[in-house]
Amino acid sequence: MVDAFDRLGYGTYKLAAGEECAGGVAHAIDTGYRHVDTAQGYDNEASVGDGIDRSDVDREDLFVATKLSTDNLSYDDAVETARASRDRLGVDSIDLLYVHWPINSYDPAETLPALDDLVDDGVIDRIGLSNFEPDQLDEAIDRLDHDVFAHQVECHPLLQQETLREYAVEHDHWLVAYSPIARNRVAGVDPLREVADAHDATSAQV
Ligand SMILES: NC(=O)c1ccc[n+]([C@@H]2O[C@H](COP(=O)([O-])OP(=O)(O)OC[C@H]3O[C@@H](n4cnc5c(N)ncnc54)[C@H](OP(=O)(O)O)[C@@H]3O)[C@@H](O)[C@H]2O)c1
Repeated sequence: MVDAFDRLGYGTYKLAAGEECAGGVAHAIDTGYRHVDTAQGYDNEASVGDGIDRSDVDREDLFVATKLSTDNLSYDDAVETARASRDRLGVDSIDLLYVHWPINSYDPAETLPALDDLVDDGVIDRIGLSNFEPDQLDEAIDRLDHDVFAHQVECHPLLQQETLREYAVEHDHWLVAYSPIARNRVAGVDPLREVADAHDATSAQV
């Protein structure tokens, strides 16, 4: 496990299980990424694990995050499927486990104690939440014994999430930005294009 959370993560959404995902993850790690983000719902955790194995970097130098699917948020399902994710990823413990979205089977009275117990049992090292509103964050922080380490939400130049970023600073957790280039809609943002043109780069690179 890394001492410090590596801020630049390699997202694996839409990477097909098999060579596309395993090869992509191994290449990303060998290129310098140290944080890999997947989810039960991406159906590629085993391939993420293969990519980690295949890379030249030791497991303890990597930060591996995954997410509980919204159908797996009852106490028993959260505990059981987190263990299955850990096994598919081929790690001793998951560095960061998120609740993917507080919908469907999300029940604070069930899901949050499961996360605390997963930390206590050493299955996961840290708790994350994703796509929560401030009142849902309030409730989760209140109920959890362990700290919330990160909140992952869509965040990019076209959706700057001022409220949730301030909330993260106030409550001392990381705000992890997903879709950080807005699936390349940043290409249409004029100030970014001007910077890009001045540096012979693309808006996505900026
Ligand atoms: N927690 C959540 O609910 C949630 C939701 C969404 C994403 N995520 C996480 O965040 C990660 C990233 O988000 P994302 O994939 O939604 O969006 P993103 O990173 O903003 O955009 C990815 C897309 O942008 C295009 N792209 C990538 N690099 C580019 C470049 N240099 N120039 C031009 N276009 C480029 C590619 O499109 P083409 O494939 O069409 O080329 C790629 O599929 C995911 O992999 C996942 O780990 C989490």
